[in-house]
Amino acid sequence: MPLYLPSDLTILTTEIFQAHGVPDKVARVVADSLVLGNLKGHDSHGVIRIIEYVDWIGKGWINPHAELKVLNDEGAILVLDGQRGFGQLMGREATELAIEKARALGACVLTLKNSAHLGRVGEFAEIAAAKGIAHLSLTNTHGGGVLVAPHGGIERRLSANPVVGGAPMKNREAVVMDMATSTIAEGKLKIARAKQESVSPGLFIDSKGMPGTDPEAYYADPPGALLPMAGHKGYALSVFAELFAGALSGGSCSRPDQARVGNGWFAIFVDPAWFSGQEAYDSESSRFYDWVKSSRVRSGFAEVLMPGEPEARALAERSCDGVPIDEVTWGKIAAIASSAKVKVPKTI
Ligand SMILES: NC(=O)c1ccc[n+]([C@@H]2O[C@H](COP(=O)([O-])OP(=O)(O)OC[C@H]3O[C@@H](n4cnc5c(N)ncnc54)[C@H](O)[C@@H]3O)[C@@H](O)[C@H]2O)c1
Repeated sequence: MPLYLPSDLTILTTEIFQAHGVPDKVARVVADSLVLGNLKGHDSHGVIRIIEYVDWIGKGWINPHAELKVLNDEGAILVLDGQRGFGQLMGREATELAIEKARALGACVLTLKNSAHLGRVGEFAEIAAAKGIAHLSLTNTHGGGVLVAPHGGIERRLSANPVVGGAPMKNREAVVMDMATSTIAEGKLKIARAKQESVSPGLFIDSKGMPGTDPEAYYADPPGALLPMAGHKGYALSVFAELFAGALSGGSCSRPDQARVGNGWFAIFVDPAWFSGQEAYDSESSRFYDWVKSSRVRSGFAEVLMPGEPEARALAERSCDGVPIDEVTWGKIAAIASSAKVKVPKTI
């Protein structure tokens, strides 16, 4: 697959957004997040999103000038409204406010409604963990972006609703869990479709409820639906993401009458120093980390990894080798760039 320099991708993404009226600082934040998504191995949440985001700016679903609005700031509570601003910026600003509160009060519980797509939500756990703050969050999609059938159902009723956790670790990479509660993030199906590849069985059903492998059956009319990960367990987690990030945030849960894709977010940030104490937390989390990784390895596996390690390794590898982008996706991005008179970089 063609490889691109991360720095070229950042410039390209920034310039495309600037050409679509996005203020310089915002364009750069979004570009950094998308390219980091590619670097961390999540191409579904990388520069491929330029295609949708440009479309959503045109439709008014993203307001590039929006500012994060604080609706309530009392004690450990933060109630925020993203006012349709880019999720990469709203999520980052909300995280920075929450880290300050967690340091001062021990914890912060926040809701964010009306953010545009938050993208790779684990990025916020990484930011907090880098500052020693632990984090758990649930994300839903207000209205639009309904992709997943309920356990036992055929029709789409839920979004991919990621669950995220970040645990800072002394002298090593943070443990970061960042996962859709669907079997697969929809963006990954989109990539398989772009590459005209089939996917493993068990990820989605077609419009009749039959297991599908050709992504076209998912995007057909009538459409298919993603399945919840791990059956009823992923479904239960996803329902809670809807209720906490959707209903509790004052935004909305998945619904049939809303086309705009935007995210709701329920997040908790805690400073370990206020709970077990920093020293006790560092020592017990390190002991546990080493013990888990010391397990004997099953046949078919090379080693035991902690959540977040695949992304850290992809970052190290892709920072050196470049970011692979399939030709169909690149063709679409290059067409957007050319019509905005932005220079398209060459492969490495
Ligand atoms: N904004 C949104 O609405 C939205 C919706 C859905 C997904 N997403 C994003 O999509 C991205 C991809 O999600 P996904 O569910 O496809 O992720 P994934 O299945 O690739 O990874 C899920 C988690 O499992 C861990 N993991 C993977 N392989 C592992 C292994 N061998 N050993 C130990 N841990 C391992 C990863 O570190 C990660 O924390 C995420 O960044 C998510 O935030 C966003």
